[in-house]
Amino acid sequence: GIYLQGMFQDTRPEITTDLSRLESQAAANLSAEAMGYIAPSAGTGATARANLAAFERWRLVPRMLRGSTDRDLSCTVLGTKMPAPIVIAPVGVQTLAHPDGELATARAASALGLTYTHSTQASHAFEQIEADSKWYQLYWPTDKDVCLSFLQRAKDNGYSVLVVTLDTGTIGWRPADLDRGFLPFLKGEGLANYFSDPAFQAKLAKPVAEDPAAAVMHWAQMFPNVGLSWDELSFLRDNWTGPIVLKGITSIEDAKLAAEQGVDGLVVSNHGGRQVDGAIASLDALPAIAEAVGEQLTVLFDSGIRTGADVAKALALGAKAVLVGRPLMYGLALAGQAGVDHVLRCLLAEFDLTLALSGYANHRELNRDSLVRA
Ligand code: FNR
Repeated sequence: GIYLQGMFQDTRPEITTDLSRLESQAAANLSAEAMGYIAPSAGTGATARANLAAFERWRLVPRMLRGSTDRDLSCTVLGTKMPAPIVIAPVGVQTLAHPDGELATARAASALGLTYTHSTQASHAFEQIEADSKWYQLYWPTDKDVCLSFLQRAKDNGYSVLVVTLDTGTIGWRPADLDRGFLPFLKGEGLANYFSDPAFQAKLAKPVAEDPAAAVMHWAQMFPNVGLSWDELSFLRDNWTGPIVLKGITSIEDAKLAAEQGVDGLVVSNHGGRQVDGAIASLDALPAIAEAVGEQLTVLFDSGIRTGADVAKALALGAKAVLVGRPLMYGLALAGQAGVDHVLRCLLAEFDLTLALSGYANHRELNRDSLVRA
């Protein structure tokens, strides 16, 4: 489409198609505070860099003359039909990137038939999101009433899969934010699900509007939950009827425990390197986990997906689908819904092209023989 338009007039996409350059393009549109929250990682950024570097160590080996004209990228993951194995990662407080925030991201995803995942820390409430296919990401608050209310609202509003993020029992050491003394939530941002929640409101002495600072502090008390243990997962199984996915798994032992617990899937993820600096690259954790539990559980992947080739590599190493975080936030920052649409289309197109040029009519044909270690 881009080339065809260029035949007749000198039109160029306003946003780069080089998804690795999005970050620098988006930086021009964002305040230092917003960019400082979205782009950087924990500590020295070692894990975030390792996430990207891990992709460089695997090289696809394209096959020729295999008749890959009629490509089918569609799949069903955890009961959700998808036009391609790409899911919108849960990202909180998206109004930092653009005033339309999650509303724009959800609409862009939905227009392409992709699944949007709603963060507990979103800037818009469950009820405001318009998307045909929605998953809900839970940050498990220490307050059981609020937790139950979140699960109920997610159910009532058509969220089909529960994604439980386990790697953020509290927020990581993030120097870019610490040096500015900036945490969006303490400014009252990214708390829409809480502030609109009847169970949360019931715990406050005064309504949120009358004493927002007290409401924020109440959130700050119930958010950290590093005390959770495996035996508590039964609480979620008792209170959620759909599939349950554990996000933030990088240990084989944890993957096996997840399988024992009878959850439906897991996301191999280190939160884009935003939690434990020095932790294993997400892609380095994927192959062994997929091998250990891939038959019992739906193994998903995120942290470091930047290109269509990256998607193909993660699938070849055992993921059934991938989640994408930062690149979509850069698209959102650059042009709202149209920007997210652009980034998703680029990713889908490059993934499709990678399959076509590598001899795959179907992404399910990707496996360990599709790549070599560089
Ligand atoms: C996140 N992530 C995240 N995860 C989650 O479960 N709940 C959340 O609210 C957030 N919030 C959030 C904010 C921002 C600004 C970023 C960049 C990330 C993590 C996200 O779901 C995903 O794991 C990573 O973004 C994947 O890495 P990439 O794609 O950014 O490299």
